[in-house]
Amino acid sequence: MASALSLFLLLLPFSTIAQTSTNVSLGSSLPALNNSSFWASPSGDFAFGFQQIGTKGFLLAIWFNKIPDKTIVWSANRDNLVQGGSKVELTTDGRLVLNDPQGQEIWKATLTNNGVTHAAMLDTGNFVLANRDSVTVWESFDVPTDTILPTQILDLGSTLVSRQSEVDYSSGRFQFRLQTDGNLVLCTTAFPTDSIYYAYWESETVDKGSQVVFNQSGYIYVRGRNGNLVHITSANSVSTENFYQRAILDYDGVFRQYVYPKTISSPQSWSTVWYIPSNICMRITASYGSGACGFNSYCRLGEDQRPVCECPPGYSYLDPNNKIKGCKQNFVSQSCEEGAQESALFDMREMPDTDWPLSDFEWYQSVSEDWCREACLSDCFCYVGIFRNGNCWKKKLPLSNGRIDPSVGGKALIKIRKDNSSSESPGH
Ligand SMILES: *[C@@H]1O[C@H](CO)[C@@H](O)[C@H](O)[C@H]1NC(C)=O
Ligand SMILES: *[C@@H]1O[C@H](CO)[C@@H](O)[C@H](O)[C@H]1NC(C)=O
Ligand SMILES: *[C@@H]1O[C@H](CO)[C@@H](O)[C@H](O)[C@H]1NC(C)=O
Ligand SMILES: *[C@@H]1O[C@H](CO)[C@@H](O)[C@H](O)[C@H]1NC(C)=O
Ligand SMILES: *[C@@H]1O[C@H](CO)[C@@H](O)[C@H](O)[C@H]1NC(C)=O
Repeated sequence: MASALSLFLLLLPFSTIAQTSTNVSLGSSLPALNNSSFWASPSGDFAFGFQQIGTKGFLLAIWFNKIPDKTIVWSANRDNLVQGGSKVELTTDGRLVLNDPQGQEIWKATLTNNGVTHAAMLDTGNFVLANRDSVTVWESFDVPTDTILPTQILDLGSTLVSRQSEVDYSSGRFQFRLQTDGNLVLCTTAFPTDSIYYAYWESETVDKGSQVVFNQSGYIYVRGRNGNLVHITSANSVSTENFYQRAILDYDGVFRQYVYPKTISSPQSWSTVWYIPSNICMRITASYGSGACGFNSYCRLGEDQRPVCECPPGYSYLDPNNKIKGCKQNFVSQSCEEGAQESALFDMREMPDTDWPLSDFEWYQSVSEDWCREACLSDCFCYVGIFRNGNCWKKKLPLSNGRIDPSVGGKALIKIRKDNSSSESPGH
């Protein structure tokens, strides 16, 4: 019984490739030209090739090719877009390389085994390099970017890295890691390095987990060393027959499973069937890093349960096209010169249920709200006062871990300059 099963498992990749692939032969190449430069899977569901990213260049990617928005599920050069005239080639000696127009190598598939005789875009969304016996030598499923697909399995040490924004595919500061100790974590990192700042969700499978499985029925779970299911992450089974599915560590740090109906009668969109964590705004409270949103902003869970990053009064987005990057101060700071007496030029704006934990430099107990307001107003180092249950905290910049939520209580007192015209005056 056991040997019959392993024989079946052993044969599976062979038959999959033989039955459902259109081979890409050695010496084939694709130019970065326009969006119609790709190799499609036999069903046409997936394509491997170039997609133009705005005016910034081309991404060598895999995407859902039958849906209008061509959702990208994998990419080779996310941090290094290439210009038109670049090309990806399956060389005559069996290497898969991406070269820029000058012939410089931008990316290549890292092979441990030689003898590649062909490549294939499979109907699962996996792009593979295989040898004469159709044994897979390299597969895109082994080097994921931010997305996993049904039938994909991640081994210990695998990582998904979020992108910067909805439209910027370059690496961001959130990661989904199946650690070598067996624990699956969602974490923030000391961007651009890989070191972990803070794990804001974990499967609690230390010494137990061995793989993350996204199976054909749409389940996502941690599989134990003994083969058992040790932690169901998503039990939201939606048929893969009728729906396209993907799970992605989104740019906002939330890991979401999406489905999209395959029978397209009217314009459709991806809908979320499951996600973790439930409220990322409240989940990240870390001494290093900005929190769920960027510095000087705060996170609010929207009506659709997605986090929204907003700026407090007196601050505006660093990049209005990427609100997760944080906010900048719009006014000239209070002078710390002796005798400047500037506190009359400033006002404290109230924001209920708002806090920026861990940016404190003073903490007063058994004081009144007015006392707190005055204490911050007269201190040139204080940018925000937090008043809650007779406690008063003074905050410095940059503010981090910002959130607004009914469970926070109390209020934030935001210091801003009353007349902000002075921010343009040459005197400053
Ligand atoms: C390719 O597709 C992207 C996204 O769908 C679009 O922004 C871009 O303009 C398209 N480029 C061409 C040449 O059609
Ligand atoms: C892409 O470029 C090729 C070659 O110039 C051209 O034949 C094709 O029509 C273009 N497709 C699109 C969608 O622009
Ligand atoms: C793909 O190439 C392999 C090895 O050359 C061959 O065995 C297989 O039949 C080819 N498959 C198709 C669909 O052409
Ligand atoms: C997927 O996993 C779930 C939970 O273990 C299981 O009930 C289901 O049968 C699996 N589906 C497939 C196709 O293996
Ligand atoms: C400063 O003034 C401009 C124009 O009057 C206004 O739009 C902006 O919100 C003000 N900024 C602050 C910090 O009040």
